[in-house]
Amino acid sequence: MADISQRKQQHLELALQNESQGRGELFSDVQLPYKALPEIGLNDVSTEVELLGKKIKQPLIIGSMTGGVEHGKLINANLATAAAECGVAMGVGSQRAALVKDEVRETYTVVRKFAPEIVVFANMGAVQLNYGRGVEDCKQIVDMVNADGLYLHVNPMQEALQPEGDTNFRLLIPKIEKLIKEIQVPVFVKEVGSGIDVDAAQKLVEIGVSGIDVAGVGGTSWTWIEGKRLKNENLTKWFADFGYRTDELIPKLAMVKQKAKLVASGGIRSPIQGLKAHLLGADYYSAAWPFLRPAMESAEHTIALIKDWEKGLRIAMFGCGMEKWY
Ligand SMILES: Cc1cc2nc3c(=O)[nH]c(=O)nc-3n(C[C@H](O)[C@H](O)[C@H](O)COP(=O)(O)O)c2cc1C
Repeated sequence: MADISQRKQQHLELALQNESQGRGELFSDVQLPYKALPEIGLNDVSTEVELLGKKIKQPLIIGSMTGGVEHGKLINANLATAAAECGVAMGVGSQRAALVKDEVRETYTVVRKFAPEIVVFANMGAVQLNYGRGVEDCKQIVDMVNADGLYLHVNPMQEALQPEGDTNFRLLIPKIEKLIKEIQVPVFVKEVGSGIDVDAAQKLVEIGVSGIDVAGVGGTSWTWIEGKRLKNENLTKWFADFGYRTDELIPKLAMVKQKAKLVASGGIRSPIQGLKAHLLGADYYSAAWPFLRPAMESAEHTIALIKDWEKGLRIAMFGCGMEKWY
């Protein structure tokens, strides 16, 4: 069976295949309120927003992706350099590997070398709270990257299809609640591609999470990736689109916004989709996959892409007569 680093390497290789991506265009039914007479100037548009007490230049969080694997250090270094240059937030990939293997810590800590000021989210699977990990481990991973927030991912479908998956998801809510009370930073809960359902979101908001990151169906399919690792074509096919579509979930989850932030993710492939998600209720949007290839190339490629996202958002907001995000 693959160890954590081997598994992460296989994840990267499979994620890079176009087949790992959802089929069908998200948000195609949502019409932006274009205004032929926007009554503002392009230069009046501000894409800036606040996230966890810091200003970011556009409402974009680069999704949690990597660390704990050979390529991870370079990818995280390039993502961090670009995030710092462009003033956006980023998540690191699951840090469980660094709790197990000291020698891979640098693949995560490199982020702060290149981006001392940006908003960074630490990351761990919530299910690990049922497999011997607790508040102290979470404090350790937060300190490791001097994180502004902690992303706990919930991924029952990915774990169920993973050859070496951790599948006991019983009674996690009280453990997450204890963690929220005892950890020093805000906790956001994210899925990885099947979506956070309304019932789960309500329970999470009740116990005090600061944010819900949708990660619905439509982008990277972790069920497809794990199905491929299982080498089981039936399971791969049956579960590739299992869960809730991102564009259908966001309006249903907008009710969490009285108490927590809502992040649209899972197949967000342009700032136009990001703006549509915002009109449906999201506070921020996050994308992982679009930044993977550029980050494997160089910081410059990544910067060019993130700048396009900012420019695209500015133009789209202009076209809708929106001077500000809120
Ligand atoms: C290569 C890769 C690795 C990922 N690793 C993690 C991870 O370690 N932890 C996590 O919470 N999500 C992880 N994700 C999931 C993303 O953060 C995101 O929720 C999901 O891919 C949906 O966004 P997308 O469609 O923009 O890729 C990973 C995604 C990719 C593409």
